[in-house]
Amino acid sequence: TVADFKGIKQGRLRIAAVTTTKYFMPRLLGPFCAQYPGIDIALEVVNRDRLLERLARNQDDLYVMGVPPDGLDIVREPFMDNPLVVLAPASHPMARRKRIRFPELENEPFIVRERGSGTRLTIERAFQERSVPLKIRMELGSNEAIKQAVAGGLGLALLSQSTLSHDPNQSEVAILNVEGFPIKRSWYVVRPRDKQPSVVANAFLEFLRGHVQLLTPRS
Ligand code: PGA
Repeated sequence: TVADFKGIKQGRLRIAAVTTTKYFMPRLLGPFCAQYPGIDIALEVVNRDRLLERLARNQDDLYVMGVPPDGLDIVREPFMDNPLVVLAPASHPMARRKRIRFPELENEPFIVRERGSGTRLTIERAFQERSVPLKIRMELGSNEAIKQAVAGGLGLALLSQSTLSHDPNQSEVAILNVEGFPIKRSWYVVRPRDKQPSVVANAFLEFLRGHVQLLTPRS
């Protein structure tokens, strides 16, 4: 049950968010829950394909993702920067260079996310748009595993900069100065257009609109 009793918002808020949001969504929910102790939250963390399935089945109130789908009747609101960066081991020769042209990446092996992830989709588009072949050395289903593989010297990766915030081991990986990077993107909160947001969903939307500047990752 969802209620706005004497101005006290109560009820359950169901959010589905893509895996890469795990670096900021739980932190965002802290101050929100402190402000609305009557709201209880169910956060489902899945990759983009699973999230789109949940959206199609109308399983949640709100959806948080980096690559909203085309051709669906949805409302999308950007609420935070989501730059995509090129990562290399800190010891990689390219890590010392000021300017790297994108085609130079052609000969580098990449560690990529699984098909069905928004990150994978963005990488494939980035290489296709620039007509540069993507050499995949390894596919891993986790951003954390990818960062470790990069640190271990297995290859390069394109990841959301959100995956780097608050990481004490970040010195083992370097962000490369590749022309056209970081690719500027946003995080979006998405909802079906034909579904009136609940009182608690509206409270969260308002919260996002008002608070996210504080949480914008380093840029
Ligand atoms: P992912 O999604 O966690 O499925 O890669 C990220 C995104 O939508 O940008």
